[in-house]
Amino acid sequence: MEIHRFEKVWVGASILLIVGFIATITYGAVGAGVTMVNDSGGTIDPAALNQHEEFSDPGVRQVGENHYAVYIVAQQFIFNPGTGTPIELPAGSTVTFYVTSADVVHGFNVVGTNVNTMVIPGQVAKVTAEFPAEPKNYGIVCHEYCGSGHHEMAGNLRTVPPSEFSLDGSGSADVDGETDASVDIDGGEH
Ligand code: CUA
Repeated sequence: MEIHRFEKVWVGASILLIVGFIATITYGAVGAGVTMVNDSGGTIDPAALNQHEEFSDPGVRQVGENHYAVYIVAQQFIFNPGTGTPIELPAGSTVTFYVTSADVVHGFNVVGTNVNTMVIPGQVAKVTAEFPAEPKNYGIVCHEYCGSGHHEMAGNLRTVPPSEFSLDGSGSADVDGETDASVDIDGGEH
């Protein structure tokens, strides 16, 4: 059977496209380590966060010489801590975030970093990041629609020179329902 040259070219291009699609999906799943939901922090009872060892008093802990843990509760429509009182961390440190939700699905993204996860009630999202040595202010945004105040659900994180850092100044925020939407998303420079 005679196959026209153009037809051969198009069949070849179609097969290439299919191979390309499979390759990009495979890369996303395996190579880039993209996962749907980060639940490596384990499960939790969202109705009993106030009895949880860490989430009952969310905030910053020191867990190593230059390694900090931050426990954050997301709820409509605040991050505790983060909204109102910024999360304060020493610049140049390694930080493990443990984030959970007290109500519905939220998002947690430290703008300009690869700290980005869904926050699902019943699960603890665990994300570790190294912060640059340069002190900087970061915005935190909720990127999953979570209700009427979703667009206002935001917070701040700032890294300070290690010499100026103390754990006292960065404990749990006193949450009074006030939302602080003054997030500098752009951050000036990236
Ligand atoms: Cu929380 Cu959108």
